[in-house]
Formats: sequence, C-alpha cells, structure tokens
Amino acid sequence: MPVSANGPFDPEAFSRLDEADDSLFYDEDRFVDHLDATALGTVERVIGTLTVEETPTVLDLMAGWKSHLPDQMRPAETVGLGLNPRELERNAALDRRVLHDLNRNPTLPFADGSFDVVLCTVSVDYLTKPVEVFRDTARVMKPGGLFLVVFSNRMFQEKAVKIWRESDDGERLALVERYFEMAGGFGPCRTFVSKGLPRPERDKYYPLGIPSDPVYAVYAERSGGDPARAPRPEPASEPVPMPPPEVISARKNQAAKTLLCPYCAMRMKKWAVPQSPFTEWDVPFMFVCFNDACPYLVRGWRAMERQGNYGVSYRAMYNPWRDYFTPVPVPSLMALREGIIGTDASKQAG
Ligand SMILES: C[S@@+](CC[C@H](N)C(=O)[O-])C[C@H]1O[C@@H](n2cnc3c(N)ncnc32)[C@H](O)[C@@H]1O
Repeated sequence: MPVSANGPFDPEAFSRLDEADDSLFYDEDRFVDHLDATALGTVERVIGTLTVEETPTVLDLMAGWKSHLPDQMRPAETVGLGLNPRELERNAALDRRVLHDLNRNPTLPFADGSFDVVLCTVSVDYLTKPVEVFRDTARVMKPGGLFLVVFSNRMFQEKAVKIWRESDDGERLALVERYFEMAGGFGPCRTFVSKGLPRPERDKYYPLGIPSDPVYAVYAERSGGDPARAPRPEPASEPVPMPPPEVISARKNQAAKTLLCPYCAMRMKKWAVPQSPFTEWDVPFMFVCFNDACPYLVRGWRAMERQGNYGVSYRAMYNPWRDYFTPVPVPSLMALREGIIGTDASKQAG
C-alpha cells in the first residue's frame, strides 16, 4: 500500500463528496448551534474540567462563532483559526482571529510551544490531512498541554471525509485515537462519551422524540510535561442523580408487585425475549425499563466506555419468573423496542 501524507490509510479515505475549495463552502455564515443545548452544556463542562491551567493560552482550531469556553475560564489569550471571517468576528471569546485553510496547508501559522490548550470542536470530520494537522498541533503546544477533540454524530455530509461518513460512533472514537497515535508527540489518549440524555423541550427536534446529541471526546497531553503534576480530572458523569442504594434495594424488593424500575421508578414494559437460534432464553418475556432518562441507562454509556466498550449502555431488565434484575445491553435508544408487548403485569404473554 502506498504511504501517503495520511500514512497507511486508503488514499480514498479522505475524499469528500464536495472537493471544491473549502473557503467557498464556509463563506456562507452559519450563526447556528451545531448541537442542542444539553450537548453544548456538556461540551462546556468537559472543556472546563480538563483545563486545569489558571490562565491558559488557548487555540480554538476550526473555530466558528462560539468557542464553548465556560464562564469561569480565564484564558490569557484565545486564538481562533477558521475559514469564515464574520463568524470569527462575532466570536466574543476570541482575542485573535486567523483565517487559514488546514486542508490546503496543514502547517499551523504559530510558533513552536505557543499554546496550553488546543480545542477542536465538531470539526475533525472535515480534515483531509488529519495526521499532519495533529502533528503540527503538537508542535505549537507547550509540553504537558491539552489537545481536546470533541465531536458528535451530526455533520455537513458533503464536506466530511469518506472514512468519517462511513464509520459508526465507536469507530470514530478509535479513528481519532489513531490520528493522535500516528501524529506522535502526545501521551496516551483518554476518551469521554455522553449519550442518551433527554433533548431539551425547547429544542426544535424535541417533537421527533430523539435524545440529545451525543458528545464524544478524545484528548491527550503534549508529551514532555511535568511528570510530577497531578493528572487532569476526568470529566464528571452526567448530572443525572442515582437514587440512594437503600431506595434501589427497596424498589427491587417490591418489583414483583409494582413492576417499577428500581433506578427511576417508572413502570417497566413487558418485553418478548428475542427468538434466536444462537441464544436460548428459557422464559417467554421479561420486564425492561424503557425510560430514556433513567439514570441506570444514562450513566451506563460512560460506565461501559470506561471498560473499552464504546457506544453501548444497558437498560434494567427484570425477570419475573425468578424475581431478579439484570442489565440488558443496548447500542442505541431504539434497540430492543421492537420486543415491547405491553405493560400487563401478569405472566401471560402479550
Ligand atoms: C461545524 S463548524 C464548527 C465550528 C465551531 N468549532 C463550533 O464548535 O461551533 C466547522 C468549522 O470548521 C471550520 N473549517 C472547516 N474546514 C476548515 C479548513 N479546511 N480549515 C480551517 N477551518 C475549517 C469552519 O470554518 C467551521 O467554522
């Protein structure tokens, strides 16, 4: 396989449906939010938690009209690099604005060791030479500095690279990790996943019943930092409180009578077990909590990700025949719903 600027990747991997000059596409002003308000809150929280420097110099790579810096952050300077001058002008977080096309020239117009924190939010999908850009990002960072890449599952299809369009969310996490590794100059990558939170009622897509946009992050420190410094704190789990253990336990004890989920107290639904030649279930149905805001489910994405299982959570499942709860894995909020056969509490099917 030929070794190109993008290393061992298939050269086609970074092709795009619209190969015209990026400045043409981004000349159109887009004063819109690229994620819903809950997801944007998560992005701010992740940036705020990971930025431990008191007065960092910040580079917002592929910046638009918002940089998502939390109010409590006190940067010494924030530089935005992007393609739309009016969006950059309106971005109140920026002290300096730089127009630069990273696909034409992946070398950043900054001196070595300039930045403590580099952010790239919902934009990595558009890089046609990501490894070169990541490598040069390492060059412009201070040792021990943070490079935080945040993305979701929405994109401008015509401008996203083929490998991104054709990957699922878990594969995209692995892909961004690969960019870091191939670029060199960084310590080990860490990841963050927030998925399945309820969409705000004011959001225009709320009536469609879809959850909040997922937020994925891959981040690493520029190598060469002070080994004695404490590690950056992990972004906190979603602010969805779990009931105290004694409440969960009491609800479990009552489940045969109430059929309430022990974690959210919503009524579970009768769910026909799948008919599969590969797995044999010895009961005809279970009861499963299908509340998308249940803390057990909402926290599960992160818990699974910590074990290396990206893009999977679990719902609470109750076996009425043996009176016990067990998790049932779900790759999406829609999974398992085809098996719902009602809310009837009896052990009659249907
Ligand atoms: C979806 S917007 C995200 C903007 C911003 N980071 C945010 O979080 O709202 C994609 C941004 O990537 C920038 N961009 C796209 N292609 C680029 C390129 N080739 N070089 C530099 N910036 C680019 C555009 O200017 C645009 O602002």
